[in-house]
Amino acid sequence: MRIVVLHGPNLNALGTREPAVYGRTTLAEIDAMLAREASAHGVDVSCEQHQGEGEIVSAIHRAAAEGAQGIVINPGAYTHYSYAIADALRCVTIPAVEVHLSNIHAREEFRNRSVTASACVGIVAGFGAESYSVGLQALMTYLKRK
Ligand code: DQA
Repeated sequence: MRIVVLHGPNLNALGTREPAVYGRTTLAEIDAMLAREASAHGVDVSCEQHQGEGEIVSAIHRAAAEGAQGIVINPGAYTHYSYAIADALRCVTIPAVEVHLSNIHAREEFRNRSVTASACVGIVAGFGAESYSVGLQALMTYLKRK
């Protein structure tokens, strides 16, 4: 089984980006943690970070076309306004789990709304880097039960 992890814009700067909000764990550390956790379940993960909306749309289509079984996605700020990413998630038949390091519901009003979440099977937010871990676990369990 292969799961694709998609990180949206500015997440390449994790570790130094607003550490009070996003913590000090780097993206490379998150990717290594996910690879470890997935391999313990015999699952492969491929992690990609993209700054652009179109690149994320293409990555969603590519994941499905190349046979991945599911997607863990943190669309970053696109979460709040990208109908293109929401539509791409609905175009593909593989399930996605949306994750956020911060609790988007406890922040500025513009972050309270996710336009992409309704295209996902579930959402995990507010646990820092651990959100990815919980999201991956939830997706693996969902896929095994399917
Ligand atoms: C984020 C929350 C978004 O509002 C923000 O734009 C991000 C990161 C999170 O993981 O908490 O880039 O998706």
